[in-house]
Amino acid sequence: MKNIYIETYGCQMNFADSEIVASLLQKEGYTVVSDIAEADYVLINTCAIRDNAEQRIRKRLRELRAMQQRHPQLRIGILGCMAERLQSQLMVEEENVSFVVGPDAYRRLPDILARVREQGVKAAETELSITETYSDIEPVRLGSNGISAYISIMRGCQNYCAYCVVPYTRGRERSRDPETIVSEAQSLFNQGYKEVTLLGQNVNSYRWKTDNSEVGFAGLMARVAEISPLLRVRFATSHPKDLSDRLLEVMAHYDNICKCIHLPVQSGSDRMLKLMNRHYDSAWYLDRIAAIRRYMPDCSITTDVIAGFCTETEEEHQMTLDMFRRVRYDYAYMFKFSMRPNTYAEKHLHDDVPDEVKTRRLEEIIALQGQIALENNRREVGKVYEVLVEGESHRSKERLFGRNSQNKVIVFDRHEVLPGQYVKVKVVDCTAATLLGELCTQ
Ligand code: 5AD
Ligand code: SF4
Repeated sequence: MKNIYIETYGCQMNFADSEIVASLLQKEGYTVVSDIAEADYVLINTCAIRDNAEQRIRKRLRELRAMQQRHPQLRIGILGCMAERLQSQLMVEEENVSFVVGPDAYRRLPDILARVREQGVKAAETELSITETYSDIEPVRLGSNGISAYISIMRGCQNYCAYCVVPYTRGRERSRDPETIVSEAQSLFNQGYKEVTLLGQNVNSYRWKTDNSEVGFAGLMARVAEISPLLRVRFATSHPKDLSDRLLEVMAHYDNICKCIHLPVQSGSDRMLKLMNRHYDSAWYLDRIAAIRRYMPDCSITTDVIAGFCTETEEEHQMTLDMFRRVRYDYAYMFKFSMRPNTYAEKHLHDDVPDEVKTRRLEEIIALQGQIALENNRREVGKVYEVLVEGESHRSKERLFGRNSQNKVIVFDRHEVLPGQYVKVKVVDCTAATLLGELCTQ
């Protein structure tokens, strides 16, 4: 009765958390299985960022009901942001859920699983913490390719963007001891990993203070980059309001810090940005883009955007399209606004953009971005990149795929190359999403 199956939804942070959960439970004698049919417990690590993320989980729970009828011993638990948002109410609404555990309460899991099994009770642990960073837990790398891994460097968020549920589901911001981060990265490198991604909701506000020293995010990046030139370092996500020149300087200095910045813009309209409580305007944002390009002309830039936030006018939507034309993002995550309970928007603003208008605005952004991405990629043809090979192409066994420093996927004929190697690839063609290349044999 000790087999667990973990299913993860949502952001990279959630995937990193699932690896902590696996580690905590393995220590107590549980086994992580990759076939759900073998599971005694199914743990679903959930996302609450938009309503459709939650609907997806509800649908999954209905599917799991049939499975529970065949295996009455199966226990289902909800972890993560939806657990935190709905707490024990979730077990009332979803009868087949036996336990609900929030992002700061994972250490309680062994205890909860035992209680649920032995005493036949239901359990909810959703207390948030101001100190928990799981810094002493060595994550079990789930579904890993042995090449790249996530390292969570901070937890929580207190920016309180008006639309966002995260401050309520993940609690106050807190940074993790840099020594534990560097040693986790070093240990991954020793095991053969070639790439680490440092994760936090807002990595630029990473800060670790002791009596006689202080480490900020730029300093932390430098320390991780120093481990080896053969270890690539990435990070996500930055907030435009505190993207510092110091960080850009450090990024430019180290070849192994990947030249890719995810800088969520959310809107191109100053009125929207103010209403969203983003603490920057379009001029500030464009200044940060100019700074990135000054320090690293070859840096790729990606973003998040929300279509149809409360009271957004047609003109303001056009400003977002203009922003996309000016920045020319390499990739964008594009969303329709979804009103979330308890947020500032829900308490004080009106979700008055009709759904069909949101959809149309989103489609316009998607179409424009598709065009820009293709044009950007066409400019890559003829260039040679160092590519970290990740695995076989999904379409053909004869081809491999990897990424360049800019995080663009490049597909090429495999020859004698193996995943995990660095190779030089010349770009010969492209689609909007992928570069097609030829291996350089110099
Ligand atoms: N509705 C739509 N998109 C949202 N995001 C966050 N909250 C919402 C919401 N309520 C988007 C933002 C954020 C990304 C992770 O999700 O663009 O950067
Ligand atoms: Fe990640 Fe936010 Fe979704 Fe939570 S709500 S899983 S922090 S994206």
